[in-house]
Amino acid sequence: MRDRIEVFEGDITTLAVDAIVNAANNSLLGGGGVDGAIHRGAGPRLLEECRTLGGCETGGAKLTAAYDLPARFVIHTVGPVWQGGGSGEPTLLARCYRRCYEIAGEQGIASIAFPAISTGVYGYPLDEATRIAVTETRDHLEGGNALRRVVFACFGAEASAMYRSVIDDIFAGG
Ligand code: AR6
Repeated sequence: MRDRIEVFEGDITTLAVDAIVNAANNSLLGGGGVDGAIHRGAGPRLLEECRTLGGCETGGAKLTAAYDLPARFVIHTVGPVWQGGGSGEPTLLARCYRRCYEIAGEQGIASIAFPAISTGVYGYPLDEATRIAVTETRDHLEGGNALRRVVFACFGAEASAMYRSVIDDIFAGG
């Protein structure tokens, strides 16, 4: 199972996977961080399609085409803003990963790349967020499905080291 998981250090918009995940906000109308990079790379047709979606709730996800990006689809998800951890943030962040995997399943997606949702502007502590990302991924892959490749796109050495160590830890028992 672990052989289907990969850590990539760099810009998620360069990845030629079936779907890249966007860490968006409730409006789905663009923003900074990875959201800004995805909209820049995809071109203006992405914003046009996003305008038709009516936004997205925190913990939800919605699918669009990827337009000028090398990926086929973008799955836009909205992570929680970190408020100290007592406001349902772990449940909401886990729900983001689950909804993305649900949509991937509906589309028969074989390869998907995630950024570290909520860990930038939204302030979610990287170690806790990484644990949720990897646990949800393990649980999903255990279920048996069409996914052949899950890429964690890490912006910088700190994030990639964190993902590697959490993956080692979570898969240590086999
Ligand atoms: N490729 C991969 N990862 C990236 C890239 C990239 N090109 N750019 C940034 N990251 P953030 P959030 C990393 O702030 O915390 C936006 O304005 C970044 O280092 O993009 O979920 C939205 O519109 C960090 O580890 O997303 C929302 O308003 C991770 O991606 C808000 O930010 C997520 O950081 C969402 O905040």
